[in-house]
Amino acid sequence: MPDPSPVILGIESSCDETAAAVVGSGRRVLSNVIATQHDLHEEYAGVVPEIASRAHLERILPVLRDAMREAEVDYSDLDAIAVGNRPGLIGSLLVAVSAAKALAWSLGKPLIGIDHVQAHLYAGSLEALPVEYPALGLVVSGGHTSLFLVHSPLDVTLLGRTIDDAVGEAYDKAAAILEIGYPGGPRIDCIAQVGDENAHDLPVSALDPDSLDFSFSGLKTALLYAVRGKPMGRGADAHFERDASGLSRKEKADFAASFQKAAVAAVMLKIRRALKRHAVESLLVGGGVSANSRLRQELTELGDLRQLDLRLPAIEYCLDNAAMIAGLAAGRYRAGQFDDLTLAASPRTATA
Ligand code: KG4
Ligand code: ZN
Repeated sequence: MPDPSPVILGIESSCDETAAAVVGSGRRVLSNVIATQHDLHEEYAGVVPEIASRAHLERILPVLRDAMREAEVDYSDLDAIAVGNRPGLIGSLLVAVSAAKALAWSLGKPLIGIDHVQAHLYAGSLEALPVEYPALGLVVSGGHTSLFLVHSPLDVTLLGRTIDDAVGEAYDKAAAILEIGYPGGPRIDCIAQVGDENAHDLPVSALDPDSLDFSFSGLKTALLYAVRGKPMGRGADAHFERDASGLSRKEKADFAASFQKAAVAAVMLKIRRALKRHAVESLLVGGGVSANSRLRQELTELGDLRQLDLRLPAIEYCLDNAAMIAGLAAGRYRAGQFDDLTLAASPRTATA
C-alpha cells in the first residue's frame, strides 16, 4: 500500500527553465528551485533549442542539490522521482528525463512521468486547500493556450486550444516588434501600466460563435502593421515603412496597453463561453501568462461574480517549475501508477 503522504522529488527542463522541487503530500512545497536561462536567449528574442539543452546539462546537478538541501531531506527519504516528460523541446526534456531515470534506478525508487500542461493546471493546488471538481482549466503559456474540463487532477478533457500562436508567444513577438526585450510577457505587462489601452484598436479574435479555440496571429500581425507600417518590396528587398526605433516610451506603452487589452479580452471571451456550457465549481489557471496583472484582475472579477473557487497560483508556480510536477505526481503515486525506465520524452502533450 503506497504511503498516502508521499515525499516526491520533481524535475523539469521542458523549455528554458531548469527546475527541481520537493513536495510532500502533493501540496506542501518543501523546496522549489528554478534556474532561468532568459539571459542566454535574450539576444535571439526567443528560446534557441541547442543553447537551452546545453544550459540544462550544466545546471541540472546544482539545481537538484539545492532543491534537496533546501527541503532538508535525504535521497533515502524520497518516495518517488517525478519528471515532466512531455510536451516541450526534445533536447531540453531529455536532460530532466535522463536525470530522473538515473536517480530512480540508482535509489531504487519509483519513476513517474508527468504531462507539463496538466501540471500547470495543478499549480493552484500547491500550498492550498483541495479543489472541488469539476473545474474549468485554462493553461496560458509560451507554448500553449488551452481550455479544459477538469474532472480530477489526472482526468482532463480538452475543450479548445490555439489554432496558431500561443498567447505567451504572441506577447513575446509583440515585445520583439516593439523592441523592448525578452521575455516579452513581463515587459509588455510592465510598460502597459503607463499606456493608454484605447490608443489603438487591435482585434479581439472570437472565431465561430461556438468555438472554444483561440487565435492570436491576427492580433500579432495587426500590431506589426500598426507599429511598422506597410510591408514593401519582395524577396531580399522585403521591408517595412519604419521600425519601432522611432517610437517614444509613451508610444510604446500605448501599443503595449492596447495589445494587452485585446489579448486578455480574447482569453476572457472563451472562458465566458465555456462557463455558459459547463457547470463547474472551480476555475484553475496556470502557465506563464497567468502571471499577467490584467488577466489576474479580470479573472478575479469573474470568479467573484460567478462565485467560482478561482485558483490563481502564486507567481513562482505560474511560470515553469518543478513543484507542480512533484505535486501532480502524488496522485499517480497513490494510485500506484508508475513508469519504468523506458519512459520517453515527447514533444507532444497527452492532453490534446
Ligand atoms: O509557462 P511558461 O513559464 O513556459 C512555457 O511553458 O511556455 O510561460 C512562459 C511565457 C512566456 O511567453 C512569457 O512571455 C509569458 O509566459 N509571461 C507573461 C508574463 N510573465 C510571463 N505573459 C504576460 N504577462 C506576464 N506578466
Ligand atoms: Zn509551461
